Amino acid sequence: MKIGTRTVDKIQITTTTVDASTPRPVNSHNEWDLLEEVIVGIVDGACFPSWHIALQATLPEDQHELFRANAGRPFPPEQIAAAKEELEEFVHILEGEGVRVRRPVRLNQLQPYGGLNWTSTGLYTAMPRDVLLVIGNEIIECPLAWRSRYYETCGYKPLLKEYFHAGAKWSTAPKPELKDEQYDYAWTESKPGEPVRHVITEFEPTFDAADFMRCGRDILAQKSNVTNDFGIAWLRRHLGDRYRIHVFEFNDPHAMHIDATLVPLAPGKLLINPQRVLQVPKIFKGWDVFHAPKPIIPPEHTLYMTSKWINMNVLMLDEQRVVVERQDEPMIAALKNWGFTPIPCNFRNFNSFGGSFHCATLDIRRRGNLNSYFLDVDEL
Ligand code: NVA
Repeated sequence: MKIGTRTVDKIQITTTTVDASTPRPVNSHNEWDLLEEVIVGIVDGACFPSWHIALQATLPEDQHELFRANAGRPFPPEQIAAAKEELEEFVHILEGEGVRVRRPVRLNQLQPYGGLNWTSTGLYTAMPRDVLLVIGNEIIECPLAWRSRYYETCGYKPLLKEYFHAGAKWSTAPKPELKDEQYDYAWTESKPGEPVRHVITEFEPTFDAADFMRCGRDILAQKSNVTNDFGIAWLRRHLGDRYRIHVFEFNDPHAMHIDATLVPLAPGKLLINPQRVLQVPKIFKGWDVFHAPKPIIPPEHTLYMTSKWINMNVLMLDEQRVVVERQDEPMIAALKNWGFTPIPCNFRNFNSFGGSFHCATLDIRRRGNLNSYFLDVDEL
């Protein structure tokens, strides 16, 4: 392994080069290296999950009643069909851009299952970003806090086995029991000015992969209604000294997944949610900070599981090309203005299910090595 430095714009990048003869079926260190292979989720068989307090803390309030009433039933078939069509367009675009696309298998989300003191039905396998974390050549199955997502990684097992046989490292975080002690059943939303309360406790480690953003040796994270300190501590110890996990707090009383709040687009280029990031973390000193334009999703468009800031949830194909929602003209114009090459794709019907291009994907292989993109990290 060789080590060197290069400077891109104002950002100093400490680089390593790795022996190219090592097989690397899984290799992704950040959000922007050239994308070669990706998993894209599926919406087939998506169901309203069993109702639980953990959902109450994160779903838009106007959806709670609907979720309670429809728990354990499929989402409307016409909405699934519309989202599926957009996923096919997305896959077509990715393949046209030279990316190999892989898909999970469909699970029966209506099959009841349970832990020692609870039962649930499932949700979907639409958002691989939430459930699997790729760090370098390793894929980690995450210990999800939602009971309705307990077996979601099963949809990816054929791929996980294939990647393992091809040489990848495959790990699973301790599978939490998700007992009642894992949740604060007295949870209520924190009022402005109060410290943010999360619905999960520190009983066992839980985290969703989407609460982490990878920037080489530095991983940016948030605590949320699915990711606790215990989970972050587990990941820190698991990854060891080669990585530094930086935990930030944002202005988000319903925090679940960092990728509609803080999105590193390329070395030295950060997209932020101006309502949630009130102070840009010091680590980004010297980076260009772009404020996401106000979302334009109309009020009549159903968003079951996300805020409208899902407009920030773009996918970088390299440091220039970025997949963005076709109707989101303000975001397309802004990205062009900032020097990127937007690739529009219809995705608003998929957005209804709680995610956009970043959520719907898991980058398996990007061409690049483990680098450092920040200066003076140890002094922060
Ligand atoms: N929970 C976030 C979406 C994350 C992709 C939000 O509702 O804005």
